[in-house]
Amino acid sequence: MNDREFRNDLIAYIPPLRAFAISLTGKVDRADDLVQETLLKAWANRESFEPGTKLKAWLFTILRNEFYTVFRKRKREVEDADGIIATNTTISRDTVESPLAKEEGGLSGAALTAMSTRIIARIHEHTGGTIPIVGVGGIMGPEDAKAKLDAGAALIQIYTGMIYEGPGLVKRILRAL
Ligand SMILES: Cc1cc2nc3c(=O)[nH]c(=O)nc-3n(C[C@H](O)[C@H](O)[C@H](O)COP(=O)(O)O)c2cc1C
Repeated sequence: MNDREFRNDLIAYIPPLRAFAISLTGKVDRADDLVQETLLKAWANRESFEPGTKLKAWLFTILRNEFYTVFRKRKREVEDADGIIATNTTISRDTVESPLAKEEGGLSGAALTAMSTRIIARIHEHTGGTIPIVGVGGIMGPEDAKAKLDAGAALIQIYTGMIYEGPGLVKRILRAL
């Protein structure tokens, strides 16, 4: 089988590969990544494919192996996580009223204090203290820091608050705790 025939056969098998990938991952975007990886692997190893054997079965085997390798790796990564940082900036504009709210991008600071604290509480509810949570998002003063810790954060991180309040904010928080 020459390269052109091999390539045409690969292309012809994309729809059944995609259907198989969707059945494994349950997600179309992850399935498409998996099919792409499979095609790249098959192409790179085309010399080792024995003509006369079933190309479809060979491709399905590559895809399945690829899925389990990535799946196992992801599982390990989650199991090995040292902690959860919650949250980052928000793209929501629910808490701001300003002509500038139309600007694109993530908002930090007071606009996300309550939202972030709610998410920390939810994560804590699900993880039950088994993994440290770093509470981040709109800590502008001691009350916000306390709220994060009360919601289940083991540590806190401050970014915008430091810009507005300066490093004295850390001292004020520590005194208030
Ligand atoms: C100017 C700026 C740059 C940031 N850069 C990053 C970054 O590179 N990586 C990241 O994970 N978060 C980044 N963040 C998000 C902050 O780490 C933090 O999650 C977010 O600002 C919410 O916390 P805060 O309200 O205390 O600022 C950035 C925030 C700002 C304001």
